Amino acid sequence: MAKAMLHFLPYALLLAAFVLACHGQERKVHIVYMGERPKGDFSVASTHHSMLETVLGSTSSAKDSLIYSYGKSFNGFAARLSDEEVAKLSEMEGVVSVLPNHKLKLHTTRSWDFMGFSKGTLPAPIEGKVIIGVLDTGIWPESDSFNDDDFGPPPSKWKGKCTGANFTCNNKLIGARYYNSEDYYDSTDIKSPRDSEGHGSHTASTAAGREVPASYFGLAAGTARGGVPNARIAVYKVCWATGCASADILAAFDDAIADGVDIISTSLGAPFPLEYLEDPIAIGSFHAMKYGILTSSSAGNSGPFPATVSNYAPWILTVAASTIDRRFVAKAVLGNGEIYSGLSVNNFDLNGKSYPLIWGGDAANFSAGANSVISSQCFHGAMNSYKVKGKIVFCERIGDGAGILSADGVGAIMADSLFTDFAFSFPLSATVITTEDGQRVLDYIRSTENPVATILVGETDKDVMAPYIVSFSSRGPNPITPDILKPDLTAPGVDILAAWSPVAPPSIDFEDTRSVEYNIISGTSMSCPHASGAAAYVKAAHPKWSAAAIKSALMTTAHVLDPKKNDELEFAYGSGHINPLKAVKPGLVFDASEADYVHFLCKQGYNTTTLKLITGQKIDAVFTRTVTNVGSPNSTYYINAYTPYSRVSVTPSTLSFSAVGEKKSFTVKVSGPPISQQPIVSGTVILTDGVHVVRSPFVIYTILPGAAYPSNSILEKRPSFRGSSLYHGNGILGRN
Ligand SMILES: *[C@@H]1O[C@H](CO)[C@@H](O)[C@H](O)[C@H]1NC(C)=O
Ligand SMILES: *[C@@H]1O[C@H](CO)[C@@H](O)[C@H](O)[C@H]1NC(C)=O
Ligand SMILES: *[C@@H]1O[C@H](CO)[C@@H](O)[C@H](O)[C@H]1NC(C)=O
Ligand SMILES: *[C@@H]1O[C@H](CO)[C@@H](O)[C@H](O)[C@H]1NC(C)=O
Repeated sequence: MAKAMLHFLPYALLLAAFVLACHGQERKVHIVYMGERPKGDFSVASTHHSMLETVLGSTSSAKDSLIYSYGKSFNGFAARLSDEEVAKLSEMEGVVSVLPNHKLKLHTTRSWDFMGFSKGTLPAPIEGKVIIGVLDTGIWPESDSFNDDDFGPPPSKWKGKCTGANFTCNNKLIGARYYNSEDYYDSTDIKSPRDSEGHGSHTASTAAGREVPASYFGLAAGTARGGVPNARIAVYKVCWATGCASADILAAFDDAIADGVDIISTSLGAPFPLEYLEDPIAIGSFHAMKYGILTSSSAGNSGPFPATVSNYAPWILTVAASTIDRRFVAKAVLGNGEIYSGLSVNNFDLNGKSYPLIWGGDAANFSAGANSVISSQCFHGAMNSYKVKGKIVFCERIGDGAGILSADGVGAIMADSLFTDFAFSFPLSATVITTEDGQRVLDYIRSTENPVATILVGETDKDVMAPYIVSFSSRGPNPITPDILKPDLTAPGVDILAAWSPVAPPSIDFEDTRSVEYNIISGTSMSCPHASGAAAYVKAAHPKWSAAAIKSALMTTAHVLDPKKNDELEFAYGSGHINPLKAVKPGLVFDASEADYVHFLCKQGYNTTTLKLITGQKIDAVFTRTVTNVGSPNSTYYINAYTPYSRVSVTPSTLSFSAVGEKKSFTVKVSGPPISQQPIVSGTVILTDGVHVVRSPFVIYTILPGAAYPSNSILEKRPSFRGSSLYHGNGILGRN
């Protein structure tokens, strides 16, 4: 199904363009965003209706066209509109922006112990006070991870609902809603909050799943648990087989804020950069922030290329993905005794038996139109089953394994140069080795009369290099607002064991019909709920803190990654690796209010030419930051700033507080020659009172003329984008 879609996508796009050209009046779902919810007790729905009626000409067509009236937490509506109607509405008073119904994509347990947040160090129970809202593919409510043993009824502030046929909530999973603005259902979609993809069950259980024994077909056996097992979960299903539509994401934010969630977790994002007022997660999370709710979002899986980060609005916690110290390996053993260790979550045991080993290129199905170039990559449908049956096949590229399985092969040894730092699971015995080792396997096949091999059942080993940022994790700089350093921090997102939907395929083969309750997958989708769980933990300790204060606490206490293992520095991991235990005692926080963010948006213009770039040859930047004392009443912080290559000074050099909640400012001045040796130069401001260490990174770098930012058209459109720019991690606001 999904494979066919991929293949035919280019044709579908062409067809859509053709249809549009012929029928300019075709109505499509759009979102009319109108900003803040008007004060007072009146129905926004009637305003929406009369706006539509004005544009569409009749009450009945207005009624038919309207899909959602947003009015609980912000103002706006979704409706089917033609281009002409969009133009008319855009001109109407009160309309901030009209967004197309973009489709966003999913950013497809030991991890908590690895973060120093093991069962033994778990804090006093949150007692079910904190509610995490998860916008995803839904949830499998019967999973052990969501059982409500020992949970009392939801807190009285909870106003959510449990909707959908054949779907029951409990005192752990206290709310569930689903949204589908396009009203299209694929054959695999279940029309309720029930998760048919696995992704939503995985993210929800990573953030707040109960402690349960779990494994993947016996691999990684142990206890699976979320960051805050005592927190409640509310699910908002916005993602279906075709993606996650903007109108649905906004409807979910509108409800979740009004329902009373404390933290929102979104492991999805736009596949291309969107301006803030075109991005449903930026808009929804902005309104959430106004109600004190932090939104934690995935940075995206488009790394390691620069400027690929998504969810970059300053009020969002943007989470990169890094490794934990457990790797999944599977060894290929050749007939000559050579052993190649590859990465794979391999639950299949060949019991040490050797099978004939062939090169995929020697098994092309010519009658299916394949040739040896195609079959050397082991594509589905390209293999000749007479040649593959009962054998292990060497493939010159990573694939989903379905090509070998459907041709009755026993196993696959795949060689790949890209995916060398995380493991996939396959529908048959398989491992993924480096291209160098792949060449040796090929040499063995070519130089041996009857080559044989076996693949050993998978094991886990300790990765002493961890943590490092995984290759796929999207990198900064921020494509829309280079002044704001993104991602914000990193959390575990590689080979994470968590709950799964028993009706979803357990491996990367979409046709794999085996059923599992727990699965091991990787992505910033997996790191995001780790940060959401940590944010819930901070929220439980400090219920009155603003979203910005929680975000600041998580960032200033993050630990710096070893620069020897991480040459990309802040554009890969922001402030560093999340540390939930330290985050509850940050000492100081960089707070920000709605007014600060509005000021930020005003400064954006709202056009890109107002970006504050340092365009000259010399760096000369000054930024002022304000911190709030949340530690001991009487404390004195000494401030130091460091950066190689440039001069940096801080005034004043000490800040003395005499009360909790007191605010003090300091100014950092950076000056020096242009940055020419290094792609980026990292700097740090550190404030310490001897007990707390408050760390805030900044980055100086020169955007090279003509530098390529492949997936980012916005940057390419700015020829004057040169000179040194200064980025700052905390405090969130752009340079003053
Ligand atoms: C309810 O959902 C369960 C789990 O998918 C399924 O086994 C059962 O058949 C469903 N019942 C109905 C009436 O749809
Ligand atoms: C070759 O491909 C055709 C078309 O998909 C299929 O029907 C046939 O069984 C394949 N032949 C072998 C030997 O695998
Ligand atoms: C952007 O805003 C600035 C300041 O408001 C204005 O001078 C400039 O013309 C605008 N540019 C565009 C492309 O709208
Ligand atoms: C803080 O310092 C002030 C003045 O030095 C003193 O009066 C006050 O008692 C101190 N408070 C605490 C909690 O130590």
